[in-house]
Amino acid sequence: MQILRRRGWEIPERLVTPEAAVLGRRAVLAGAAALTAGPAAAAVLPAAVPPASISMDPPRDMAFRAGRALTPYKVATTYNNYYEFSLYKDLWREAQKMTIAPWSIRIDGMVANPRTIGFEDLLRQVKLEQRVYRHRCVEAWAMTVPWTGFPMAELVKLAAPLSGAKYVVFTTVEQPAAMPGLDSPLFPWPYVEGVTMAEAMNELAFVSVGLYGKPLPKQSGAPIRITLPWKYGFKSGKAFVKVSFTDRQPKTFWAQISPSEYGFWANVNPAVPHPRWSQATERLIGTDQRVPTQIFNGYGPFVASLYAGMKGVMLYR
Ligand code: MTE
Repeated sequence: MQILRRRGWEIPERLVTPEAAVLGRRAVLAGAAALTAGPAAAAVLPAAVPPASISMDPPRDMAFRAGRALTPYKVATTYNNYYEFSLYKDLWREAQKMTIAPWSIRIDGMVANPRTIGFEDLLRQVKLEQRVYRHRCVEAWAMTVPWTGFPMAELVKLAAPLSGAKYVVFTTVEQPAAMPGLDSPLFPWPYVEGVTMAEAMNELAFVSVGLYGKPLPKQSGAPIRITLPWKYGFKSGKAFVKVSFTDRQPKTFWAQISPSEYGFWANVNPAVPHPRWSQATERLIGTDQRVPTQIFNGYGPFVASLYAGMKGVMLYR
């Protein structure tokens, strides 16, 4: 059995693996409203309304071809990870309790001009496009969906970080009244993830506000989330409210829980197993077909140069 380094808020091993965590969930969230969620219902609730003047269905950028079938919208929006709501995949119903308007994002840290920007204001300052990306969870399931959004590089430019900034850190929302998971002391809330400046400026790094030409559903990260298709999905924080620039590698949510399993880099690599399971193949949700995992989730030509000269399994965990 894998021995984990425990911290003050240590959690049992069965809780650190998203799917295995389901086993311990009853104890963690006993009595919480999340437990009332039943099997995913047939209908999916309508997504939140975007600013009327902005289309969530802009042209698809054909430079990003996924090379495999799209995951149906219903499948992609009823099988999710969002620990603030639940450890179960059918949390979409629970997630509808979240409030997503008004929404603003704090920009702070190593920037000349710390400020808060409204979601709609932000959308007016960027050009939305649509990209089909493969999306690979560390749990070895995957999906393929069209995201609507804009390059993370645009967000960085807008924030105008100081030259000494080395990392961009995304902090996601905490809404205790809607999110029963926040009551669990076993997790180091809030959910924080980050990337290096070079990763943030890479053309693949994306900020998503829509899915399948519609506004993001709440369970998928409404109103705004990160999408980093060459990394395991836990790097892509949902519903962020703060973008900070720093010269220190951030203590990210999952790396705090188990650094040897869910590290800072988390680049997809079939040859580097998770300490407790193989990453050689992945299961496509919807069909349950198993396909080989690709290094950098198939995006090596875009991102491999970011890691030139860097070595070690921790780049891939
Ligand atoms: N963001 C927040 N705020 N909370 C979470 O629990 N889970 C992560 C990531 N972003 C998570 C999150 C994980 S483990 C994955 S695999 C992806 O979201 C899942 O995104 P999806 O549900 O849209 O497929």
